[in-house]
Amino acid sequence: MKQDSQWEPRIVGFLCRWCSYAGADLAGTSRKKYPANIRIIKVPCSGRIDPLFILKALRLGFDGVLVSGCHPGECHYQTGNYYARRRIAITKKLLEYIGIEPQRIQASWVSASEGGKFAQVVTEVTRELKEIGPNELFADKK
Ligand code: FES
Repeated sequence: MKQDSQWEPRIVGFLCRWCSYAGADLAGTSRKKYPANIRIIKVPCSGRIDPLFILKALRLGFDGVLVSGCHPGECHYQTGNYYARRRIAITKKLLEYIGIEPQRIQASWVSASEGGKFAQVVTEVTRELKEIGPNELFADKK
């Protein structure tokens, strides 16, 4: 896809407050560098993320969505991240079905002590979205 060389993807990150949000905080306090493309929304658990949040973000013109929570087996509510994992898989299939690149949704498990991993994840998601290009098909053009 032909695109402006100055174009930068806009990403929403839904982060579990117990792990990934704390990991993002640690990345900041440790001065880990990562792209400034992400806007973070703190959620109580990745299991709280409704697929509609993801679709709404894409509809609003964001180019990608990152969902990040506690590692499997470490969810503070026992099974929230297992529900999240299934919902993300289904939402990706839905995107594919309607002709949107499923890679616009990314998931990762980042603990509170993994600031470096959080920085790596954001760098990788940003790189992948740059390859895919802008979200022009699904974004509301109003
Ligand atoms: S509390 Fe972190 S994913 Fe559930």
